[in-house]
Amino acid sequence: MIDLSVEFCGVKFQNPIVLASGVLGVTGDSLAGVVRNGAGGATTKSLWPYQHEGHKNPTMFGTEEYFMNAVGIPDAGPEKAREEILRYREKCGAPLIANIVGGKMEDYAEIAAMAAEMKPDVIEVNISCPNVEDELGKPMACSVSKSAEVTRLVKEKVGDIPVTVKLSPNAPDIRAIAESVLDAGADAVTAINTLGPGLAIDIDAGAPILSNRVGGISGPALKPLAVKAVYDIYAARKCPIIGTGGVITGRDAIEMMMAGATLVGVGTAVYYRGQEVFGEIVREMNEWCVENGVSKISSLIGKIHA
Ligand SMILES: Cc1cc2nc3c(=O)[nH]c(=O)nc-3n(C[C@H](O)[C@H](O)[C@H](O)COP(=O)(O)O)c2cc1C
Repeated sequence: MIDLSVEFCGVKFQNPIVLASGVLGVTGDSLAGVVRNGAGGATTKSLWPYQHEGHKNPTMFGTEEYFMNAVGIPDAGPEKAREEILRYREKCGAPLIANIVGGKMEDYAEIAAMAAEMKPDVIEVNISCPNVEDELGKPMACSVSKSAEVTRLVKEKVGDIPVTVKLSPNAPDIRAIAESVLDAGADAVTAINTLGPGLAIDIDAGAPILSNRVGGISGPALKPLAVKAVYDIYAARKCPIIGTGGVITGRDAIEMMMAGATLVGVGTAVYYRGQEVFGEIVREMNEWCVENGVSKISSLIGKIHA
């Protein structure tokens, strides 16, 4: 029997695979479904302190190499979020990560306080979405001082709930941003959000494919950037990290852990392998451990730094 469990900021997960924010996690039932399919925990979509409209369809597009989305972080508001989290709790005992977002700095304090009342196991702070730049400007995750300030504001509001700050591959120096949020009190970081934005054109129609024209890039093309980000951050601080970006298989997840991730976020893989992907990745990780004589998966965290 392989011990697949990991501890993240004092919270025990039965295995390291968690649903990444914004993919499937719209209702309590869909979040619980991800755990039923084998994930060790789930992350909600980004929650705003007020209702927020997303972009018009088409909002997603994929090839074998990459996926692009400009969903635009739609949200029905905190009342609905509360209901869905309650529903998840009724159905499922696995840890829940509540992902929060805001337009202005003050929004983060407001939604952090609201989210804390919903009693998630971890709060993830999204300061790194690249597909709402028209509305919000450059993500805060590109600025050392703004990243630190938003972290302080959130930490003040959430009591002892651990906070992970979600970082952007667009930052010129992601390691410096990680250090700034950790120094400001973050308990962990999530690396990474989508890259870009990028642009894909339908040459037959002579028009961009996405209604928003541009979108954040995820999926296989993102993986080497995500692994390098996790590697750099772990080398600097050995902190808990949710490694996210392009994880499609169990081997990808093990790579992310060897770079330094404690938990591994899985998002776009759902579009490539269906909703059973969580259990399949866990099974593939288990098989790899058996073949390689690894009895505790947590022993792989940061292995290549040794
Ligand atoms: C359709 C879609 C919606 C997303 N929505 C959110 C979101 O609401 N909040 C967030 O922090 N990240 C969001 N993300 C980013 C993912 O959580 C993840 O960081 C990124 O896609 C890289 O991981 P992946 O390659 O496994 O998808 C979204 C990604 C996709 C593909």
